[in-house]
Amino acid sequence: MGKAVIAVVGSAMIDLTAYAQQIPAAGQTLEGDLFTTGFGGKGANQAVIAAHCGAQVHFIGKLGKDLFGDSIAQNFHKLGINSDFVERSDTPNGVAHIWVDSQGENRIIIIPGANHEIAIEKAIEGINSIKELSVVVAQCEIKQDVTLAAFTMAKKRGCTTILNPAPYQPLSKELLEVTDWIIPNETEFKELLGESPSSDEILKKFRPGKNSIVTLGAQGAVHVGSEGTITRIAAPIVNAVDTTGAGDAFVGVFAYALASGKSALEAMDLGIKVASLSVTRKGAQSSYPTQAEISTLS
Ligand code: RIB
Repeated sequence: MGKAVIAVVGSAMIDLTAYAQQIPAAGQTLEGDLFTTGFGGKGANQAVIAAHCGAQVHFIGKLGKDLFGDSIAQNFHKLGINSDFVERSDTPNGVAHIWVDSQGENRIIIIPGANHEIAIEKAIEGINSIKELSVVVAQCEIKQDVTLAAFTMAKKRGCTTILNPAPYQPLSKELLEVTDWIIPNETEFKELLGESPSSDEILKKFRPGKNSIVTLGAQGAVHVGSEGTITRIAAPIVNAVDTTGAGDAFVGVFAYALASGKSALEAMDLGIKVASLSVTRKGAQSSYPTQAEISTLS
């Protein structure tokens, strides 16, 4: 098996994070504990963790022609993430305003900015031209018609497509048709199906005939096989300080592992271990384990 070659069509943001014991109520002002700026955006997070795992990662996206965009471009370069299909825009780079409470739970508002300007033609060109591409990943912080075009080309090439429907938005029938794997969290699952993933019977109703994984936070994740098989993998017990980017860590690792020839359950197991480690540290990409750390987990 050669190198795992992955394309992420997605968002890149700068995360502006305030840590506080408590999240303020409407009209209330509270003093927090810490403020950080860090690299984020669901697409970039997934690309970065896949690169940490050892994948050859190609990012397809749009950055602002500003300091935030410059620093993300430098970070991709430093990590060896190919940016041949990253364009720049006069629209400001995407930012995420994040509040994290004392339980490590977050609340996020994203301002997509340049992320909403990815050109469909550029996405198609990227997916069509990346050599030995095997897995294409996308999320919902970019326009859905860009993802549809990228996945349609990916399927023409025989690649595997993975959609992380985050943040939730209604998904078109056309997009679902060219999506091999869909990986929602519990909230997104409920928004997609109208019911919480609280039983095997409910899980089996989700996309019959196709593979899905539902991430369950501290409970790990559940694989819903195309034949209706349900397989749960538990997460290790950890002390969570910040869950930001944990779902992205899972998706990026899963994509890397599938592209490396691992089985879906092996890929899921590694994704859960990496995501669990990431919640013990602050930030999104800043919380991700190094390649050396990941090699001790597999
Ligand atoms: O999934 C976490 C990410 O969501 C953060 O890094 C933030 O940028 C938002 O996109």
